[in-house]
Amino acid sequence: MKISVIGCGYLGAVHAAAMAKLGHDVVGIDVDAGKIAQLSDGRPPFFEPGLPEILSSALASGRLRFSTDIAEVAGSRVHFVAVGTPQRDGSNAADMTYVDSAVDALLPHLAPGDIVVGKSTVPVGSAARLAGVIDESGSGAVLAWNPEFLREGFAVLDTMSPDRLVYGVASGDDTAVAALNEVYATAIAAGTPVVVTDFATAELVKVAANAFLATKISFINAMAEIAEVTGADVTQLADALGFDNRIGRRFLNAGVGFGGGCLPKDIRAFTARAEELGRGESVAFLKEVDQINLRRRQRVVDLTVHALGSVVNEKKVAVLGLAFKPHSDDVRDSPALDVAVQLRGLGANVIATDPQAIENSRARHPQIAYSADIAETLRDADAVVLVTEWPEFAGIDPVWAAGLVRNPTIIDGRNKLDAAAWRAAGWTYHGLGRP
Ligand code: UDX
Repeated sequence: MKISVIGCGYLGAVHAAAMAKLGHDVVGIDVDAGKIAQLSDGRPPFFEPGLPEILSSALASGRLRFSTDIAEVAGSRVHFVAVGTPQRDGSNAADMTYVDSAVDALLPHLAPGDIVVGKSTVPVGSAARLAGVIDESGSGAVLAWNPEFLREGFAVLDTMSPDRLVYGVASGDDTAVAALNEVYATAIAAGTPVVVTDFATAELVKVAANAFLATKISFINAMAEIAEVTGADVTQLADALGFDNRIGRRFLNAGVGFGGGCLPKDIRAFTARAEELGRGESVAFLKEVDQINLRRRQRVVDLTVHALGSVVNEKKVAVLGLAFKPHSDDVRDSPALDVAVQLRGLGANVIATDPQAIENSRARHPQIAYSADIAETLRDADAVVLVTEWPEFAGIDPVWAAGLVRNPTIIDGRNKLDAAAWRAAGWTYHGLGRP
């Protein structure tokens, strides 16, 4: 199958490489010439485990190429739209500019029988509107909506072996279903379930899934707040709750909360869309989910300030972690970077480290000091804050670390450390929702 992928960011670049790896003929398009040059050279412009390998082998196979020229999509049968829908400036709603311009740019190059497949996370109702735009163009192409559920850090795995496929299609559009079945033949043969539905349901599956995950995290973080005033231990609470199969243990890790390019902006955009639809009250709880989440960042800052005896100015704070989660270099809406920035704003001498996210962090916040070296980061620190649970940090030997810092106090913003071992090594240990 000949495929084009419009937008080569965290989603599109992985999708393009994975589709070529699966045997399709793929062209990836992006307006960013620098990104296209790097991808064409086999160098991903961001960190994603497994991507360099599939990118090189797909390029070597001759089935994958990248271009800034949208005209190169001509001849492809399926066109995936994988551009971003960030939070709109000054509003909670999603910014649809990139999706709208991608579809507009595609129109002159579409042929009868082509299928434009939306992958971006969009406000419900967008697909029906875009289907109208494509219809009116007279190109003879049709639209389908195929939301993407990949997790950063596991994007290659999630794309090659998704846990489900959702196709939103116009009523009775068997052609789009057949084309998508061909695109995903490998996953389908391996047993991946396919849900064929209408546009609105397909769009809603994505935002509902992210809203559910965000709610689950904020639920356990709300329990952490209660644990903090009762002396209970939220990690044991989560273990005990998780043994109930109906609840499950995953996404019940209390800590500094969720961030990234999806969860925070998706719940806000969902709230904004529901309000537009006159059903704001149905998802009003997502505002509380957002508030609980943001309070956890403040809690980490407050614990650190308290640990410093309320005198923050010129105290050295070592921040372990900058990415919004491990195995990623993404710092979009990262709780870790936010904590570092807030502490710097309070006058602390912040030094932060991260295995992958230093460059992205420095570009946004040059006022913070960065080091790639854990020992250098810890040396002479008056307080240590762990905010991204990279294995490198979770595995730090507390006895070794105690020998480096000025004051052995640690705030474990991800509840990842063995509190007893750190205390035994002489540390004052503070978890979130843990005694
Ligand atoms: C998410 C969805 O999981 C994915 O299906 C969707 O396609 C995109 O959004 P991603 O943003 O890559 O994926 O990250 P995810 O693994 O979901 O983590 C989101 C945030 O929640 C991270 O900041 C993580 O640290 C935090 N988190 C996750 C918790 O705080 N506690 C948990 O128990 C789990």
